[in-house]
Amino acid sequence: MTAKIIATLNVAAALSLAAVLPVTAAQARDKDALQKTLLATTTGDKTKGRAIFDKVCITCHKFGDAGKEIGPDLSTIAATRTRPEIIDSLLWPSRVIADQYQPVLVQTKDGDVFSGLVVKENARALTLVTSDHPDRPVEILKSKIQERQKSTVSAMPENVLDPYSPDEISGLIALLLAGPGGQ
Ligand code: HEC
Repeated sequence: MTAKIIATLNVAAALSLAAVLPVTAAQARDKDALQKTLLATTTGDKTKGRAIFDKVCITCHKFGDAGKEIGPDLSTIAATRTRPEIIDSLLWPSRVIADQYQPVLVQTKDGDVFSGLVVKENARALTLVTSDHPDRPVEILKSKIQERQKSTVSAMPENVLDPYSPDEISGLIALLLAGPGGQ
């Protein structure tokens, strides 16, 4: 009896931990201040933006001929999103998550917890892309799954732009708004 309760508590702790961790990482930077700076800057060096895109975003997004289709294709983002909306998506990916990119939270019978995007699923297994290692999808056997639920944390990493200066991020936004042909 006691053992069972402990196991249940562990599941709860693990699930809430998974939900809380990315948020804590996001607080490493004052994003409200960064948002203000980015909103006030209307130009940017696309070359600097390209360097970020080719290093980080390309793992999950298509832009012209480059990139992967894990997240939405960003080639025509300028036509569907305003500059402030793009800034929001970059700083707080989990605030608005499009239906077709709903992440899931999976707890295995071994006690592992994964949050990510289902990129492949069949009767035997599902394959998740996680924000920690988007280049290394995780295959989870269905027979090993204890619990599966919707996740409120986007598969897009919350702190993806932390290493970059406002100047570099403005370059990235300028690149996205110009489109892949606008170099
Ligand atoms: C691990 C995969 C991953 C990485 C890396 C990633 N993204 Fe995303 N991105 C996603 C997913 C999945 C979505 C859709 C769900 C959401 O909105 O959070 C998304 C959504 C977006 C959106 C909103 C699109 C729309 O139509 O509203 C923008 C803009 C965006 N990403 C830009 C970027 C940029 C720029 C980078 C590089 C700095 C980047 N992303 C890195 C996975 C990723």
